[in-house]
Amino acid sequence: MSENLSGAPEGDGSYDATARIIDPGGDAEDRRFDAALRPRRLADIAGQPRVKDQLSLVLEAARRRGVPPDHMLMSGPPGLGKTTLAMIIAAELEVPIRITSGPAIQHAGDLAAILSSLAEGEVLFVDEIHRMARPAEEMLYLAMEDFRVDVIVGKGPGATAIPLELPPFTVVGATTRSGLLPAPLRDRFGFTAHLDYYPASDLAQILTRNTVLLDVDSTRQGIEEISGRSRGTPRIANRLLRRVRDYAQVHGEGVVDLSAARAALELFDVDARGLDRLDRAVLEALCRRFDGGPVGLSTLAVAVGEEPDTVETVSEPYLVREGYMVRTPRGRAASMMAWEHLGLVAPPGTPGQQLPLGDGPGRFNQ
Ligand SMILES: Nc1ncnc2c1ncn2[C@@H]1O[C@H](COP(=O)(O)OP(=O)(O)O)[C@@H](O)[C@H]1O
Ligand SMILES: [Mg+2]
Repeated sequence: MSENLSGAPEGDGSYDATARIIDPGGDAEDRRFDAALRPRRLADIAGQPRVKDQLSLVLEAARRRGVPPDHMLMSGPPGLGKTTLAMIIAAELEVPIRITSGPAIQHAGDLAAILSSLAEGEVLFVDEIHRMARPAEEMLYLAMEDFRVDVIVGKGPGATAIPLELPPFTVVGATTRSGLLPAPLRDRFGFTAHLDYYPASDLAQILTRNTVLLDVDSTRQGIEEISGRSRGTPRIANRLLRRVRDYAQVHGEGVVDLSAARAALELFDVDARGLDRLDRAVLEALCRRFDGGPVGLSTLAVAVGEEPDTVETVSEPYLVREGYMVRTPRGRAASMMAWEHLGLVAPPGTPGQQLPLGDGPGRFNQ
Protein backbone atom coordinates (compact mmCIF):
# COMPACT_ATOMS: atom_id res chain seq x y z
CA MET A 1 0.00 0.00 0.00
CA SER A 2 2.81 2.37 0.69
CA GLU A 3 4.24 1.57 -2.73
CA ASN A 4 1.97 3.24 -5.28
CA LEU A 5 2.19 6.49 -3.48
CA SER A 6 5.22 8.10 -4.94
CA GLY A 7 3.11 8.28 -8.05
CA ALA A 8 0.05 9.81 -6.41
CA PRO A 9 -0.97 12.74 -8.60
CA GLU A 10 -0.56 16.11 -7.04
CA GLY A 11 -2.91 18.89 -7.87
CA ASP A 12 -5.69 18.18 -10.28
CA GLY A 13 -4.66 16.80 -13.63
CA SER A 14 -8.15 17.05 -15.07
CA TYR A 15 -8.11 20.57 -16.49
CA ASP A 16 -7.63 19.81 -20.17
CA ALA A 17 -5.04 18.28 -22.41
CA THR A 18 -3.35 21.53 -23.28
CA ALA A 19 -3.38 22.91 -19.78
CA ARG A 20 -1.77 19.73 -18.52
CA ILE A 21 1.35 20.68 -20.42
CA ILE A 22 1.88 23.30 -17.78
CA ASP A 23 -0.04 21.97 -14.85
CA PRO A 24 2.64 21.72 -12.20
CA GLY A 25 1.14 18.53 -10.78
CA GLY A 26 2.98 15.55 -12.22
CA ASP A 27 1.60 13.10 -14.78
CA ALA A 28 2.93 9.70 -15.81
CA GLU A 29 5.43 11.10 -18.28
CA ASP A 30 6.70 13.53 -15.65
CA ARG A 31 7.24 10.79 -13.16
CA ARG A 32 9.38 8.89 -15.62
CA PHE A 33 11.48 11.95 -16.33
CA ASP A 34 11.35 13.14 -12.73
CA ALA A 35 13.08 9.94 -11.75
CA ALA A 36 15.80 10.45 -14.35
CA LEU A 37 16.33 14.15 -13.71
CA ARG A 38 15.82 14.36 -9.99
CA PRO A 39 18.94 15.58 -8.21
CA ARG A 40 20.22 12.95 -5.76
CA ARG A 41 22.25 15.01 -3.33
CA LEU A 42 21.87 18.39 -1.70
CA ALA A 43 24.83 19.68 -3.69
CA ASP A 44 23.01 18.95 -6.98
CA ILE A 45 20.04 21.12 -6.04
CA ALA A 46 19.87 24.46 -7.83
CA GLY A 47 18.45 27.54 -6.11
CA GLN A 48 16.66 27.68 -2.73
CA PRO A 49 19.92 28.68 -1.02
CA ARG A 50 18.24 29.29 2.33
CA VAL A 51 16.47 25.95 2.44
CA LYS A 52 19.69 24.24 1.39
CA ASP A 53 21.68 25.90 4.18
CA GLN A 54 19.04 25.15 6.78
CA LEU A 55 18.71 21.57 5.68
CA SER A 56 22.41 20.86 5.55
CA LEU A 57 22.80 22.24 9.07
CA VAL A 58 20.01 20.06 10.45
CA LEU A 59 21.38 16.99 8.68
CA GLU A 60 24.99 17.58 9.65
CA ALA A 61 24.11 18.15 13.30
CA ALA A 62 22.11 14.94 13.41
CA ARG A 63 24.92 13.05 11.73
CA ARG A 64 27.42 14.26 14.33
CA ARG A 65 25.13 13.37 17.19
CA GLY A 66 24.50 9.99 15.60
CA VAL A 67 20.73 10.26 15.99
CA PRO A 68 17.90 10.64 13.48
CA PRO A 69 17.19 14.34 12.79
CA ASP A 70 14.00 16.15 13.79
CA HIS A 71 10.86 15.62 11.77
CA MET A 72 10.79 17.95 8.78
CA LEU A 73 8.02 19.55 6.75
CA MET A 74 8.43 20.61 3.10
CA SER A 75 5.93 23.29 2.23
CA GLY A 76 5.19 25.07 -1.04
CA PRO A 77 3.32 25.00 -4.35
CA PRO A 78 3.47 21.91 -6.61
CA GLY A 79 6.59 21.22 -8.66
CA LEU A 80 9.13 23.14 -6.57
CA GLY A 81 11.06 20.17 -5.19
CA LYS A 82 9.34 18.84 -2.07
CA THR A 83 9.55 15.17 -3.08
CA THR A 84 13.07 15.70 -4.39
CA LEU A 85 14.18 17.12 -1.04
CA ALA A 86 12.58 14.27 0.90
CA MET A 87 14.56 11.77 -1.16
CA ILE A 88 17.71 13.80 -0.76
CA ILE A 89 17.26 13.85 3.02
CA ALA A 90 17.24 10.06 3.09
CA ALA A 91 20.16 9.87 0.65
CA GLU A 92 22.25 12.30 2.70
CA LEU A 93 21.50 10.34 5.87
CA GLU A 94 22.18 7.12 4.00
CA VAL A 95 18.99 5.56 5.30
CA PRO A 96 16.06 3.89 3.49
CA ILE A 97 12.98 5.96 2.71
CA ARG A 98 9.41 4.73 3.03
CA ILE A 99 6.97 6.60 0.82
CA THR A 100 3.28 7.10 1.48
CA SER A 101 0.76 9.89 1.15
CA GLY A 102 -2.10 11.45 3.09
CA PRO A 103 -4.89 10.26 0.77
CA ALA A 104 -3.56 6.68 0.93
CA ILE A 105 -3.91 6.57 4.69
CA GLN A 106 -7.65 6.21 5.09
CA HIS A 107 -7.58 4.39 8.40
CA ALA A 108 -5.39 4.63 11.46
CA GLY A 109 -4.70 0.91 10.96
CA ASP A 110 -2.98 1.64 7.62
CA LEU A 111 -0.63 3.97 9.39
CA ALA A 112 -0.08 1.61 12.33
CA ALA A 113 1.06 -1.04 9.86
CA ILE A 114 3.59 1.30 8.30
CA LEU A 115 4.84 2.71 11.61
CA SER A 116 5.28 -0.66 13.26
CA SER A 117 7.46 -1.88 10.40
CA LEU A 118 9.86 1.07 10.36
CA ALA A 119 13.50 0.34 11.04
CA GLU A 120 15.61 2.55 13.25
CA GLY A 121 16.59 5.83 11.60
CA GLU A 122 14.41 5.28 8.55
CA VAL A 123 12.75 8.24 6.80
CA LEU A 124 8.98 8.08 6.46
CA PHE A 125 7.88 10.41 3.66
CA VAL A 126 4.22 11.43 3.84
CA ASP A 127 3.26 13.35 0.71
CA GLU A 128 0.17 15.59 0.83
CA ILE A 129 0.18 15.17 4.55
CA HIS A 130 -2.68 17.67 4.95
CA ARG A 131 -5.01 15.13 3.34
CA MET A 132 -4.65 12.44 5.99
CA ALA A 133 -7.72 11.16 7.83
CA ARG A 134 -8.15 12.66 11.29
CA PRO A 135 -7.63 9.49 13.41
CA ALA A 136 -4.47 8.70 11.45
CA GLU A 137 -3.29 12.25 11.99
CA GLU A 138 -3.61 11.83 15.73
CA MET A 139 -1.78 8.53 15.64
CA LEU A 140 1.00 10.12 13.61
CA TYR A 141 1.66 13.02 15.92
CA LEU A 142 1.72 10.77 18.96
CA ALA A 143 4.17 8.50 17.16
CA MET A 144 6.30 11.50 16.18
CA GLU A 145 6.41 12.72 19.75
CA ASP A 146 6.74 9.55 21.79
CA PHE A 147 7.85 6.94 19.22
CA ARG A 148 4.98 4.81 20.32
CA VAL A 149 1.86 3.56 18.61
CA ASP A 150 -1.22 1.94 20.08
CA VAL A 151 -2.13 -1.18 18.17
CA ILE A 152 -5.79 -2.11 18.57
CA VAL A 153 -6.35 -5.80 19.00
CA GLY A 154 -9.83 -7.26 18.70
CA LYS A 155 -13.12 -5.58 17.87
CA GLY A 156 -16.00 -3.93 19.72
CA PRO A 157 -16.15 -3.81 23.53
CA GLY A 158 -13.41 -6.41 23.88
CA ALA A 159 -10.88 -4.41 21.85
CA THR A 160 -7.71 -3.48 23.66
CA ALA A 161 -4.97 -1.05 22.78
CA ILE A 162 -1.50 -2.49 23.05
CA PRO A 163 1.22 0.14 23.14
CA LEU A 164 4.09 -0.64 20.83
CA GLU A 165 7.46 1.08 21.17
CA LEU A 166 8.93 2.32 17.89
CA PRO A 167 12.59 2.85 17.12
CA PRO A 168 13.46 6.52 16.48
CA PHE A 169 12.71 7.60 12.89
CA THR A 170 12.21 10.79 10.94
CA VAL A 171 8.96 11.90 9.37
CA VAL A 172 9.33 14.10 6.31
CA GLY A 173 5.99 15.60 5.35
CA ALA A 174 5.17 17.49 2.17
CA THR A 175 2.26 19.84 1.74
CA THR A 176 0.96 22.46 -0.64
CA ARG A 177 -1.33 23.69 2.14
CA SER A 178 0.53 23.93 5.43
CA GLY A 179 -2.30 26.12 6.72
CA LEU A 180 -4.57 23.07 6.67
CA LEU A 181 -2.39 21.06 9.04
CA PRO A 182 -3.81 20.90 12.55
CA ALA A 183 -1.59 22.76 15.01
CA PRO A 184 -0.63 19.68 17.08
CA LEU A 185 0.70 17.96 13.97
CA ARG A 186 2.43 21.07 12.63
CA ASP A 187 4.10 21.58 16.00
CA ARG A 188 5.76 18.15 15.85
CA PHE A 189 7.93 19.25 12.96
CA GLY A 190 11.21 20.65 14.22
CA PHE A 191 11.99 22.24 10.88
CA THR A 192 9.85 23.54 8.03
CA ALA A 193 11.38 24.22 4.62
CA HIS A 194 9.39 26.90 2.81
CA LEU A 195 9.97 26.44 -0.90
CA ASP A 196 9.45 29.47 -3.06
CA TYR A 197 9.23 29.96 -6.82
CA TYR A 198 12.65 29.90 -8.50
CA PRO A 199 14.19 32.89 -10.25
CA ALA A 200 14.68 32.32 -14.00
CA SER A 201 18.45 32.11 -13.55
CA ASP A 202 18.10 29.09 -11.24
CA LEU A 203 15.73 27.42 -13.68
CA ALA A 204 18.26 28.04 -16.46
CA GLN A 205 20.86 26.27 -14.36
CA ILE A 206 18.53 23.30 -13.83
CA LEU A 207 17.69 23.14 -17.54
CA THR A 208 21.31 23.31 -18.57
CA ARG A 209 22.12 20.36 -16.34
CA ASN A 210 19.14 18.46 -17.73
CA THR A 211 19.97 19.06 -21.40
CA VAL A 212 23.23 17.29 -20.65
CA LEU A 213 21.45 14.42 -18.90
CA LEU A 214 18.99 14.11 -21.79
CA ASP A 215 21.75 14.52 -24.36
CA VAL A 216 20.03 17.46 -26.08
CA ASP A 217 21.85 20.31 -27.83
CA SER A 218 20.75 23.77 -26.77
CA THR A 219 21.65 27.42 -27.04
CA ARG A 220 21.74 29.87 -24.18
CA GLN A 221 18.87 31.94 -25.61
CA GLY A 222 16.79 28.81 -26.01
CA ILE A 223 17.32 27.86 -22.37
CA GLU A 224 16.66 31.42 -21.19
CA GLU A 225 13.44 31.61 -23.15
CA ILE A 226 12.16 28.44 -21.48
CA SER A 227 13.31 29.36 -17.99
CA GLY A 228 11.71 32.81 -18.20
CA ARG A 229 8.38 31.28 -19.06
CA SER A 230 8.16 28.38 -16.61
CA ARG A 231 6.26 30.08 -13.76
CA GLY A 232 9.27 29.76 -11.50
CA THR A 233 8.67 25.99 -11.32
CA PRO A 234 11.31 23.32 -12.09
CA ARG A 235 8.71 20.71 -13.01
CA ILE A 236 7.20 23.05 -15.63
CA ALA A 237 10.65 24.01 -16.89
CA ASN A 238 11.53 20.33 -17.37
CA ARG A 239 8.26 19.65 -19.12
CA LEU A 240 8.58 22.62 -21.45
CA LEU A 241 12.13 21.54 -22.24
CA ARG A 242 10.79 18.20 -23.45
CA ARG A 243 8.16 19.91 -25.62
CA VAL A 244 10.71 22.28 -27.12
CA ARG A 245 12.98 19.34 -27.77
CA ASP A 246 10.10 17.58 -29.57
CA TYR A 247 9.51 20.68 -31.64
CA ALA A 248 13.18 21.05 -32.47
CA GLN A 249 13.44 17.42 -33.53
CA VAL A 250 10.37 17.57 -35.76
CA HIS A 251 10.78 21.04 -37.26
CA GLY A 252 14.44 21.85 -36.90
CA GLU A 253 17.88 20.42 -36.39
CA GLY A 254 17.10 19.08 -32.94
CA VAL A 255 18.67 22.06 -31.19
CA VAL A 256 16.76 23.71 -28.35
CA ASP A 257 17.25 27.29 -29.52
CA LEU A 258 15.31 30.54 -29.35
CA SER A 259 13.10 29.96 -32.36
CA ALA A 260 12.20 26.40 -31.36
CA ALA A 261 11.45 27.58 -27.82
CA ARG A 262 9.22 30.44 -29.01
CA ALA A 263 7.31 28.30 -31.48
CA ALA A 264 6.77 25.41 -29.06
CA LEU A 265 5.69 27.64 -26.19
CA GLU A 266 3.20 29.35 -28.44
CA LEU A 267 1.88 26.01 -29.61
CA PHE A 268 1.35 24.93 -26.02
CA ASP A 269 -0.32 28.15 -24.96
CA VAL A 270 2.31 29.50 -22.62
CA ASP A 271 2.18 33.25 -22.98
CA ALA A 272 5.07 35.72 -23.09
CA ARG A 273 5.01 36.17 -19.31
CA GLY A 274 4.82 32.43 -18.74
CA LEU A 275 1.19 32.39 -17.67
CA ASP A 276 -0.69 29.26 -18.63
CA ARG A 277 -4.30 28.78 -19.63
CA LEU A 278 -5.62 28.40 -16.11
CA ASP A 279 -3.77 31.54 -14.97
CA ARG A 280 -5.19 33.49 -17.87
CA ALA A 281 -8.68 32.05 -17.39
CA VAL A 282 -8.57 33.23 -13.77
CA LEU A 283 -7.49 36.74 -14.76
CA GLU A 284 -10.03 36.91 -17.60
CA ALA A 285 -12.83 35.89 -15.25
CA LEU A 286 -11.72 38.39 -12.60
CA CYS A 287 -11.55 41.29 -15.03
CA ARG A 288 -14.30 40.56 -17.53
CA ARG A 289 -16.94 38.81 -15.44
CA PHE A 290 -16.38 40.38 -12.07
CA ASP A 291 -15.16 43.78 -13.15
CA GLY A 292 -11.88 43.29 -11.32
CA GLY A 293 -13.39 41.87 -8.12
CA PRO A 294 -13.17 41.46 -5.23
CA VAL A 295 -14.78 38.07 -5.64
CA GLY A 296 -14.78 34.97 -3.45
CA LEU A 297 -12.50 32.04 -4.30
CA SER A 298 -15.30 29.54 -4.90
CA THR A 299 -17.20 31.89 -7.22
CA LEU A 300 -14.02 32.49 -9.15
CA ALA A 301 -13.31 28.77 -9.35
CA VAL A 302 -16.79 28.04 -10.71
CA ALA A 303 -16.29 30.73 -13.34
CA VAL A 304 -13.17 28.99 -14.67
CA GLY A 305 -14.59 25.48 -14.25
CA GLU A 306 -11.99 24.35 -11.73
CA GLU A 307 -11.87 23.10 -8.15
CA PRO A 308 -11.34 25.93 -5.65
CA ASP A 309 -8.40 23.94 -4.28
CA THR A 310 -6.67 23.91 -7.69
CA VAL A 311 -7.18 27.63 -8.18
CA GLU A 312 -5.93 28.29 -4.66
CA THR A 313 -2.85 26.05 -4.67
CA VAL A 314 -1.80 26.14 -8.32
CA SER A 315 -2.75 29.45 -9.88
CA GLU A 316 -3.25 31.93 -7.11
CA PRO A 317 0.13 31.76 -5.34
CA TYR A 318 1.93 32.60 -8.56
CA LEU A 319 -0.51 35.31 -9.66
CA VAL A 320 -0.34 36.96 -6.23
CA ARG A 321 3.41 36.72 -6.03
CA GLU A 322 3.88 38.21 -9.48
CA GLY A 323 1.43 41.01 -8.65
CA TYR A 324 -1.43 40.14 -11.02
CA MET A 325 -3.86 39.42 -8.25
CA VAL A 326 -4.37 40.74 -4.74
CA ARG A 327 -6.13 39.08 -1.83
CA THR A 328 -8.43 41.37 0.09
CA PRO A 329 -10.65 40.63 3.09
CA ARG A 330 -13.58 40.54 0.65
CA GLY A 331 -12.00 38.22 -1.90
CA ARG A 332 -9.63 38.16 -4.86
CA ALA A 333 -9.11 41.25 -6.99
CA ALA A 334 -7.28 41.97 -10.24
CA SER A 335 -4.39 44.41 -10.05
CA MET A 336 -3.38 46.96 -12.64
CA MET A 337 -0.92 44.42 -14.06
CA ALA A 338 -3.73 41.95 -14.78
CA TRP A 339 -5.73 44.49 -16.75
CA GLU A 340 -2.65 45.56 -18.67
CA HIS A 341 -1.64 41.99 -19.38
CA LEU A 342 -5.06 41.30 -20.90
CA GLY A 343 -4.95 44.56 -22.86
CA LEU A 344 -7.98 45.94 -21.03
CA VAL A 345 -8.65 49.32 -19.44
CA ALA A 346 -8.79 49.11 -15.65
CA PRO A 347 -11.64 50.79 -13.76
CA PRO A 348 -10.74 53.56 -11.30
CA GLY A 349 -9.58 52.33 -7.92
CA THR A 350 -7.81 49.23 -9.26
CA PRO A 351 -4.95 48.19 -6.94
CA GLY A 352 -1.60 49.29 -8.28
CA GLN A 353 -3.05 52.15 -10.27
CA GLN A 354 -1.30 55.51 -10.19
CA LEU A 355 -3.99 57.76 -8.77
CA PRO A 356 -3.87 61.48 -9.50
CA LEU A 357 -3.26 63.45 -6.28
CA GLY A 358 -6.39 64.38 -4.38
CA ASP A 359 -8.40 61.45 -5.67
CA GLY A 360 -10.51 59.77 -3.02
CA PRO A 361 -9.79 56.27 -1.74
CA GLY A 362 -10.25 53.52 -4.31
CA ARG A 363 -12.57 50.56 -3.98
CA PHE A 364 -9.91 48.38 -2.46
CA ASN A 365 -8.04 50.59 -0.10
CA GLN A 366 -10.69 52.33 1.90
N1 LIG B 1 16.10 22.57 -6.82
C1 LIG B 1 15.98 21.76 -7.88
N2 LIG B 1 17.05 21.52 -8.68
C2 LIG B 1 16.90 20.73 -9.77
N3 LIG B 1 15.77 20.11 -10.12
C3 LIG B 1 14.69 20.30 -9.35
C4 LIG B 1 14.74 21.11 -8.19
N4 LIG B 1 13.53 21.12 -7.61
C5 LIG B 1 12.75 20.34 -8.37
N5 LIG B 1 13.44 19.84 -9.43
C6 LIG B 1 12.90 19.00 -10.48
O1 LIG B 1 11.51 19.27 -10.63
C7 LIG B 1 10.78 18.06 -10.61
C8 LIG B 1 9.63 18.21 -9.66
O2 LIG B 1 10.10 18.23 -8.34
P1 LIG B 1 9.32 17.51 -7.14
O3 LIG B 1 10.28 17.31 -6.04
O4 LIG B 1 8.62 16.30 -7.66
O5 LIG B 1 8.26 18.66 -6.77
P2 LIG B 1 7.08 18.64 -5.68
O6 LIG B 1 7.21 17.37 -4.90
O7 LIG B 1 7.31 19.86 -4.86
O8 LIG B 1 5.81 18.74 -6.46
C9 LIG B 1 11.75 16.95 -10.22
O9 LIG B 1 11.81 16.00 -11.22
C10 LIG B 1 13.11 17.54 -10.16
O10 LIG B 1 13.87 17.01 -11.21
MG1 LIG C 1 5.88 15.82 -4.81
